[in-house]
This record gives sequence, C-alpha cells and structure tokens, in this order.
Amino acid sequence: MADSYTPPAEIAALVANVNKAAAGFEAAVGGDLHVARRNLQLEAQKLLYSLEEPNIEVWPRIFQVNVSTAVEILSNLGLWEKFEGGKTVSMAELLELTKADEIIIIRVFRQLTAAHIFVESPAGFTLTPLGLPYLNPDHRAFNNLMFFDIIPAIMAMPRTLAEHGYKAPTKESGTPYKWAHGEELWTWLGSHPDRALNMVAGMRSHNAGNVSGDAYPWGTELGKLNIKDGEVAVVDIAGGQGHIMEEVRKRNPEIKGKFIVQDLQSTFDAVSGPPEGVEFMAHDIFTPQPVKDAYIYYYRHIFHDWSDADCTTFLGQVVPLLKAQPKSKLLLVDLVLPDTNATMQDAVRDLSMFPIGGLERNESQWTELLAKSGLKIKKIWRGSEPEACVECELL
Ligand SMILES: C[S@@+](CC[C@H](N)C(=O)[O-])C[C@H]1O[C@@H](n2cnc3c(N)ncnc32)[C@H](O)[C@@H]1O
Repeated sequence: MADSYTPPAEIAALVANVNKAAAGFEAAVGGDLHVARRNLQLEAQKLLYSLEEPNIEVWPRIFQVNVSTAVEILSNLGLWEKFEGGKTVSMAELLELTKADEIIIIRVFRQLTAAHIFVESPAGFTLTPLGLPYLNPDHRAFNNLMFFDIIPAIMAMPRTLAEHGYKAPTKESGTPYKWAHGEELWTWLGSHPDRALNMVAGMRSHNAGNVSGDAYPWGTELGKLNIKDGEVAVVDIAGGQGHIMEEVRKRNPEIKGKFIVQDLQSTFDAVSGPPEGVEFMAHDIFTPQPVKDAYIYYYRHIFHDWSDADCTTFLGQVVPLLKAQPKSKLLLVDLVLPDTNATMQDAVRDLSMFPIGGLERNESQWTELLAKSGLKIKKIWRGSEPEACVECELL
C-alpha cells in the first residue's frame, strides 16, 4: 500500500533533524554527550520509522515476543557460551552441539539475526554488539524472569483490566500480577527460591556492563558529611544483593562509615552473602525502620515497584527520622520520565511495572507522590545511566 508511506518531503525534514542531532553529538562533551547521543538516537529512530510501511509493521510489532522466545531457546540449548570471544559457529557445529533438527535451528537463528543479535555469514553465526550482552548470565536470567514471571501477567492485562473496570490497582484490589496468578509476585518469589535466585541475577542485568548508581556523585557528596567509622553512611532499603552499595564502596574507598543493605530474608537466602564492605539486615520496608541515624536513606528501583499509596506507607517509616535528624538525606533512584514523548525504552519500562502494581513516574508524578509524605524534590541528579537520583527534602 504505497499510499501509506511517509511523503518524501517529510522524510527530507527528518533527515535534516538527524544531521542537526549528529552535529550536536559531535560537539558534545562530558555529561552532555549522553543527552546528545540519546537525542541523535531518537531522531534516527524517527527517520527509520518514517521509512516503514505502516501496515506491514503491525506484524513484527505483535510478535516482538518472538525475540525473547528465541533467546530463551538458545539458553535452554546452552548455546550462548559457544559464541564467546567473537567466535563464529557454523550450522554443522550448531547441529552437532544441539542434536536439534536443522529446520528448528534455522528458524530460531533467523529470528535472532533479524533482531540484530547475530550476523550471518557463509561461515556461520557471530554475535553482534547487540548480542554480546547475552554472554552475561544475568541478562539471560532477566530474559527468563520476564518471560516466565512477568510477561504472562502483561499478556493477561486486556482481560484482567476489563474485569477490574480499568481501575488502577490498589492495595485492596491487589496487583495485576495477583489478578493473573492469584498471589503477589514478592510472596510467590519468597516461596520459590529458584525463581528468587533468578530475580536477583536479573536485577544485576539492569546495569550489567554500565556504571550503576552514578547519577549521584557519592564521593563528593558523602565527602562533605565528615562521616566517621562506626556511623551509618548509607542504608540501601530493599537493596537486594547489595550490588549497588558494593560498587559505590569500590568506586569511593575513602568514604567512611557502614553501608547497610536491607531486604527480605528470602532475597538474602538467594545469594551467598553480603559483598565486601556491606552489611545485610533483614527488614520489611513496611515495618519500622530499625536504623535511626543514617546519613543517607537510599531506595533504588523500589518506588517503581509500588503504587503511590504503598510508597507513602513505607515512606512513613523514614520521614520521621528525617524530621528528627537534619543530617539525614533521602535519595530515590528510578526513571524520571519526560512529561511528553517518552521513548520506547521509557514506555516499556513503565508498563512492565504494571503487573506488580508499580509505575515509572514523571517529575510532576514524583512531586505529587512526595508531597503526600511532606516531602519535595531538592534536586534531580543525572549521570550516564537512564535512572535519575531524586534527592528529597522536607516541605
Ligand atoms: C526491583 S528489586 C531492586 C533491588 C535493588 N534495590 C536494585 O536496585 O537492584 C526490588 C527489591 O525489593 C525487595 N522487596 C520486595 N518487597 C519487600 C519488602 N516488603 N521489604 C523489603 N524488601 C522488599 C525485593 O526482594 C527486591 O530485592
């Protein structure tokens, strides 16, 4: 249907935008480089989308899940490691390794090659830069976690939302995950240690290979606080396996004081122990905060897991401590969405939180949420990661 193509004049304008963004990228330095790269990527994507035939694009869009399916099949076949070190693996080798029917391997690799995860040559298949992350087991764990534990609840949304009258989930109604599975995700993971293990590995995948926790300049800011040995520098609330605090510690060895990571005991049971320089403390975020005098109360990827009502409830365990002790700071790390024109990455991450009753928020939603607890945004810190660090203060 040629008449549904974008007219050439519009495409020429999009090309001009790409060139302008490319010039901005070339000129950018420091932190601006990340913004400029993102801008160039957005403009290039707009140009690519304008070149699609809209009717034909409906199909690949519906079946994007085929890519995570094929990733999962390769994990089951134990094939990812065979591509280590940029190795090209031939079809004959793949058949020998898997004992699978050739037609199955052809079709699965066709999908992954089309998704730019592999490149195909007469010699066989090689991972592209987009495929390299799958050499990291944490990314495979995340694919598996989403594929089996989260995506089914997303697929159930048209039914479950209709059944719940298109009302946002509340504490009383339970989460869409519960609507689909009859139990809350965190409760379910608590009674399925193998899946909790997967969740913990999947959480590392968010920042695998990137600097994580770099939105906040830990070294400079904590350096100003004159923290002494024995004092609590940071409590990372629901900090999982402690990987972020481990990294902050490593990057800023000069920071004194204790780094405490709190989480459910079932999550700690899924890992071998706390990383060096970090202490574990079992704690349910909805119960009174046992550490009364930390310099920093830190929540990363927690607010996006919960509704405003739940966030307000667990913030109620920390806000009195901020009031009692002016030295204490509250830092929240999550996405801060743009008010309009969210990217695919932003939107995917937001809707992926829906099954567990959470959401990603824009600045006004953060402001509204914090006001319910007598807080406001002091500063939004940004670094190289997509997440921002929202520093809060009392109203
Ligand atoms: C999305 S993960 C984030 C983990 C970590 N902060 C990070 O950035 O990787 C959410 C964490 O919340 C923990 N969690 C869920 N419910 C909790 C509760 N009621 N009390 C304490 N931790 C909880 C989970 O065990 C999990 O480690």
